[in-house]
Amino acid sequence: MAVIPVDIAGSPYEVRIGTGLLANLGQQCQGHLRKRRVPVITDQRVHAAWGAVVENALHEAGHEAVWRILPAGEASKSWEQLAATVDWLLAEEVERGDSVLALGGGVIGDLTGFAAAILKRGCKFIQLPTTLLAQVDSSVGGKTAINSPAGKNLVGAFHQPALVLADLAVLDTLPRRELLAGYAEVVKYGLLGDADFFHWCQANGAAMLAGDGAAREYAVAHSVAAKARIVQADEKETLGLRALLNLGHTFGHALEAQTGFSDRLLHGEGVALGMVLAARFSARRGLIPAASAEVIAAHFAEVGMMSEIAALGLNCDGNALVAHMLHDKKMDAGTLPFILLNGIGDAFLARDVDLAEVAAFLDAELAR
Ligand code: NAD
Ligand code: GLY
Repeated sequence: MAVIPVDIAGSPYEVRIGTGLLANLGQQCQGHLRKRRVPVITDQRVHAAWGAVVENALHEAGHEAVWRILPAGEASKSWEQLAATVDWLLAEEVERGDSVLALGGGVIGDLTGFAAAILKRGCKFIQLPTTLLAQVDSSVGGKTAINSPAGKNLVGAFHQPALVLADLAVLDTLPRRELLAGYAEVVKYGLLGDADFFHWCQANGAAMLAGDGAAREYAVAHSVAAKARIVQADEKETLGLRALLNLGHTFGHALEAQTGFSDRLLHGEGVALGMVLAARFSARRGLIPAASAEVIAAHFAEVGMMSEIAALGLNCDGNALVAHMLHDKKMDAGTLPFILLNGIGDAFLARDVDLAEVAAFLDAELAR
C-alpha cells in the first residue's frame, strides 16, 4: 500500500492506495467512526458492484452501514439532491465529529463533500473513490460542488476530506471508457510538471489500463503525490499554481458544453482532447515544437482514446466553441486564462491569449 500525506494547514490527511482497502474498511477507518451507524452515500451502479463489500466490512468492525443511494450520473450533482442529502444526514443525526462516507466517482465525492461542508457548518467526510478519475483527481484537494442551471460546478466549497482510501480493486468493475477518461487526468500530471512521468505513461500506460496491478498503484500514487504537492502549496487556487491542474480544461469544457455535457463526451475525454489542443495551440505560438504536440496526440490514440476533435463531428465553428469558454468559471475580470506548454512537463498560465486567435485555431482543428 502507498500512503501519500496531504499536508494542508489545519486539515491534513492521508491518501492510502492499495488493493483490498474497502474489504478492510473498518480497520482502515479506525479512529474516524464514532458510532455504530455509518452513513454511506453512493450511486446505484457503485452500490450494485461494491455495496456488499462495504456493508460486510463495516459489519465485521461492529458498524451498520446506512445507505443513501443516488441515481448514477452527473444529474445527481443538483440542488435537489444536495437538499435531500443534507436533510437525510440531519435525520440520521450526523454530528460535526462524525464521518460521512462517499463511495463513488467524482459525482458522489463532489456532492457528498459539499453536503458535509455545509452540514452544521461542516462535518467530516471520507472519500472512497471508485473511478480512476476520482482516485487521481477529484477525491484529493477538497474541491466540492454541485451544478446549477447556469453551469457546472458553479456552487461549492473547499472542504478537505478526513481520509481518502483509493482501493485499486474497484477499477476491475469500471467500464473501460471510464477508465480511459480517468487516464487522461493521469497523463495530465506528466504534461503539466513531470516529463519523466509522461515518458512512464508512454511506456506503461497500456499495461496499466489492461490491469497491471503494480503499474496501477504507481500511476495512482504518483498522480496523487503530484496533486498533493500542488494543493499543499495553493489550496484555494489563488497563486496560479493549482490553476495548472486545469491543463486542457478550458478547451475541454467548450467541447463538453458543445456536446451538451452528455455521454457523447465524458469529462476526461474532453480533457484529453483539450490537452492535445492546448499543446497544438502552444506549438502555433512557437512555444513548443509541433512534433511535441503530436507525441501527446499519438499517445492518446495508441491507448484507444479520441485525439482529434474532428472525430466528434461537431456542427459548429471555432467562434461557437470560444463562446462557451466565455461562460467558464475561470473567467477573471474579462480575461480568460489558458494553461499552455513551454514543453512536455512544463505548463504555465497565460493571461494574454487572444480569443480571435483561439477561434481561428479551432476552425483549423475542426477541419483537420
Ligand atoms: P462518475 O462519478 O459519474 O462515475 C462515472 C460512472 O462510473 C458512473 O456511472 C458510476 O456509477 C460508474 N462507476 C463508478 N465507479 C464504478 C466502479 N468501480 N465500477 C463500475 N461502475 C462505476 O464520474 P467521474 O468521472 O468519476 O467524476 C466526474 C465528476 O467529477 C464530474 O462531476 C466532475 O465535475 C467532477 N470532478 C471533480 C474534481 C474535483 O477536484 N472535485 C476534479 C475532477 C472532476
Ligand atoms: N481538478 C482540479 C483541482 O482540483 O484543482
